[in-house]
Amino acid sequence: MSLFTVLDIASIILTTIHFGTPLAYYLYIKRYLDKPWSIDVDDNYEPRVTIIVPTYNEARLIEKKLDNLYQQNYSRNKLEIIVVDSASSDGTPELIKKWAEKHPDIDLNLVEEPVRRGMVPALNYVLKNFKIDSEITIFTDVDAFWEPDTLKRIARYFADPKVGAVTASIVPENTSGDFLESSYRSYYNVLRVAESKIHSTAVHNGALVAFRTELLYKIGGLPEYTGNNDSTPASIVAFMGYRAIQVDDVVVKEPVRRDQLRRKIRRAQHLVLHFLKTKRYVKKLGLYNPDEKFENIWRVEWWLHIANPWLLLIALTLFIVSALYGSIIALVLLGTGLALLTLKHYKTWVLQQLYLITGTVRNLWTKEIAWSK
Ligand code: GDD
Ligand code: MN
Repeated sequence: MSLFTVLDIASIILTTIHFGTPLAYYLYIKRYLDKPWSIDVDDNYEPRVTIIVPTYNEARLIEKKLDNLYQQNYSRNKLEIIVVDSASSDGTPELIKKWAEKHPDIDLNLVEEPVRRGMVPALNYVLKNFKIDSEITIFTDVDAFWEPDTLKRIARYFADPKVGAVTASIVPENTSGDFLESSYRSYYNVLRVAESKIHSTAVHNGALVAFRTELLYKIGGLPEYTGNNDSTPASIVAFMGYRAIQVDDVVVKEPVRRDQLRRKIRRAQHLVLHFLKTKRYVKKLGLYNPDEKFENIWRVEWWLHIANPWLLLIALTLFIVSALYGSIIALVLLGTGLALLTLKHYKTWVLQQLYLITGTVRNLWTKEIAWSK
């Protein structure tokens, strides 16, 4: 066999595994969407809730966000909002104070950090300095907008004591020009909800992520080895044996922001750190007690985030080498791979692989715990 035959066969195998695993997983797991939750949901459950909003230079959106939270159909006396700002330079805290004066009927606290250390440290500052006694603590980004019934719908899942974390499904807003973002979301929403029906999902959304408060304290606040406040604490809770779910009846709108590429890479960085470190972290805490079903979900997602992207890169490299050595097969397959980029879902997928690879490499010198905005 000639060199390029060997290269071609190797890269065809790698490509097949790369695209085959997620496809098989998707087709396998999709049918769980119609399965019941096996959770004792109580529609009338209305526990005390603390909503924590981290802000850094959010002058453009903060009032709209507070208005949005103000419109929640939820008993006011059961609701507390804490905004933690990390030394914004665009007047965000002043806007919050003004808003609070105009809305004295809602319990709003502003916490100001003198220096910016990042979103997760800011949230930990609140957890440490306020003894939160609400049953549920919710983190939500400024650029995420809820429906009036969102809180009510989220709360009812917590009626069941085995539920530890709940996140909403995300739909991108103003995506007319951004098919990629909506295609990314539709694929992942199916996976996340189906995984949640089986037990729990390992990837949650900071647009809205709700926790049973006592668990946040039990794990000693949010871990700071990763910059996220969603997937990591939620998976810790799942590794403790609780359900950590993404529900399909609560949808949160998130506008696509301008610096989408940097944001994608940074989020990928945080996901990579998450999958590399979270399991060991829970073991170290001495709280490791997972259901086998979540273990299996974690294994697949670990593969998809940590190993699988590299197969594509290696296959691509081998194809290029082989093509340079004159392989027609390699040339044809490379051309086909490029031509397929006109397909929306395929392009979304390939880009996501590039983000994960870039993110892994970038983690070697910066973890982006406090990111540029
Ligand atoms: N207090 C504080 N301090 N808040 C911050 C800081 C900070 O240093 N940096 C960012 N924030 C706030 C933002 O104002 C916003 O409300 C929220 O944290 C999320 O930041 P974005 O800049 O909107 O980033 P994102 O939408 O990409 O963040 C998402 O990815 C993270 C993981 O990479 C969110 O979903 C996060 O929740 C998620 O953990
Ligand atoms: Mn955001």
